Amino acid sequence: MGRMIAPHSAPRSVPARTVRKAVVPAAGLGTRFLPATKATPKEMLPIVDKPAIQYVVEEAAAAGLGDVLMVTGRHKRAIEDHFDHALELEQALSAKGDTVRLDAVRDSARLADIHHIRQGDPLGLGHAVLCARRHVGDEPFAVLLGDDLIDPRETLLSRMLDVRARRAGSVIALMEVPPEQIHLYGCAAVEPAGEDGVVRVTGLVEKPSRRDAPSTYAVIGRYVLDPAVFDVLERTPPGRGGEIQLTDALQELAAGGTVHGVVFDGLRYDTGDKADYLRTVVRMACDRPDLGPEFRAWLKEFVAGLADGGTGAEGERLAA
Ligand code: G1P
Repeated sequence: MGRMIAPHSAPRSVPARTVRKAVVPAAGLGTRFLPATKATPKEMLPIVDKPAIQYVVEEAAAAGLGDVLMVTGRHKRAIEDHFDHALELEQALSAKGDTVRLDAVRDSARLADIHHIRQGDPLGLGHAVLCARRHVGDEPFAVLLGDDLIDPRETLLSRMLDVRARRAGSVIALMEVPPEQIHLYGCAAVEPAGEDGVVRVTGLVEKPSRRDAPSTYAVIGRYVLDPAVFDVLERTPPGRGGEIQLTDALQELAAGGTVHGVVFDGLRYDTGDKADYLRTVVRMACDRPDLGPEFRAWLKEFVAGLADGGTGAEGERLAA
């Protein structure tokens, strides 16, 4: 398909205000990772040696979003501290001349202007986004969900910002999933938009059963939203799970014809799920230039030991 503008896209005369702000909901209790998350926010769990939430802020910064609002719950302080300067630590590393670690410590504080707001009652993702209203104001903004990690080599968010700039309205990220997994996601009914990798979203439903799902297009955790979503969220009643769902508010906007989807088929990791979290850590470790060669060699040996159904030589010795 060639690149052409769909006949019903927003008129070009609509001024598409530049997106500058990102909102990162980070108020979840992280119960799936207890006891690790008893005193540590799940967003701070490391993917190799960097907290998951730092990848998300780096993604926002790489797409040109220099203002990041964290919508937090309990444990706010660890996240706040992570994106701040750590003077004692910096002085100690500086005195040792350890510039590599000094940079690693400073990097997170230099990524973006980070702001924090508390969600108070955890009333759902839609409510978390609504909490950002005053900070965001009357501007389009991005929402990045911390449990969804997009491989740093992908350009999904930039593609979404580009679609927003050309078509106005809101843009969501969609990924095709096997039908048996659609009940885990928001699901979109779509039609062609006359552009490769972009669809018009005609309807949305939060976590439908396989039978009721209008498609196998799952909503993944990246959104570029028009501020019109705030008025809709104000009047969105609790939906699935008794929570105010962002998907329900977007359904109203989709019915008005102002939502597009960018179809993503790249690397995405769900760090909210334990097995996927482990897969993410292994993949990222393999890709690291410093750790990768040694770790991959070990992993190959370990996997060879598993091939006959064993648990690896050390596991077998301990089980004996
Ligand atoms: C949220 C959204 C859902 C979306 C998902 C993506 O659900 O409500 O529509 O598909 O994120 O990860 P959650 O996974 O927080 O239950």
